[in-house]
Amino acid sequence: MDQDQLKQAAARAALDELREGMTLGIGTGSTVNHFIDLLGRMQPKLGGVVSSSEASTERLRGIGLEPQTLNESGDLDLYVDGADEATRQGHLIKGGGGALTREKIIAAASRRFVCIVDESKVHGVLGEFPLPVEVIPMARAYVSRELVKFGGRPEWRQGFVTDNGNEILDVHGLDLVNAAEMERRLNQLAGVVTVGLFTRRPADMLLIATPRGVERLEPHKSA
Ligand code: 5RP
Repeated sequence: MDQDQLKQAAARAALDELREGMTLGIGTGSTVNHFIDLLGRMQPKLGGVVSSSEASTERLRGIGLEPQTLNESGDLDLYVDGADEATRQGHLIKGGGGALTREKIIAAASRRFVCIVDESKVHGVLGEFPLPVEVIPMARAYVSRELVKFGGRPEWRQGFVTDNGNEILDVHGLDLVNAAEMERRLNQLAGVVTVGLFTRRPADMLLIATPRGVERLEPHKSA
């Protein structure tokens, strides 16, 4: 199985988490695109959908679903999204597709967050994937200098503008052994809109696709 087939398998497994009438948050990226396509085939009865990006909104419209805004929907029952990197504790790096801010808001407003990944993205410690940080454009150089003080090597994602009109720094080389503390500290830098670390609001369930099947992991569920 190639990586795209594994992404599709993870997306298919997420369909089992859907219940009739649920309000659903939809993430962004190629794994979520598979999920949207599967929703299109299944046509489940949903209470509403909220999208994390213009790209996902377009794809949802393509299957006949018109997203609501989060202000209209209120809190959501379920959020389904991919990740760039995950630990088995449900901590994530997100934002490779640049949608991290809306993704973080929707994750925060969702009762349950199911993250769909292929096994190549699961690591013991986060940080192999450069950490996306969304910044207000006028703060880009200042935030870059501050990130260097944290031991990072920020790279400006040139030519990319987020759906919120901001810019992205992809930060290489950060020590994320204590990712929760790094998320807390980077969040406090003036000019930072969102840090692509999801430790304060981790995934409740990881669906990890492997060639042997999809592993369902609920790191914070007590037995
Ligand atoms: C977008 C994201 C995506 O979830 C992440 O980039 C994974 O993408 P893909 O499913 O294409 O591998 O965080 O901002």
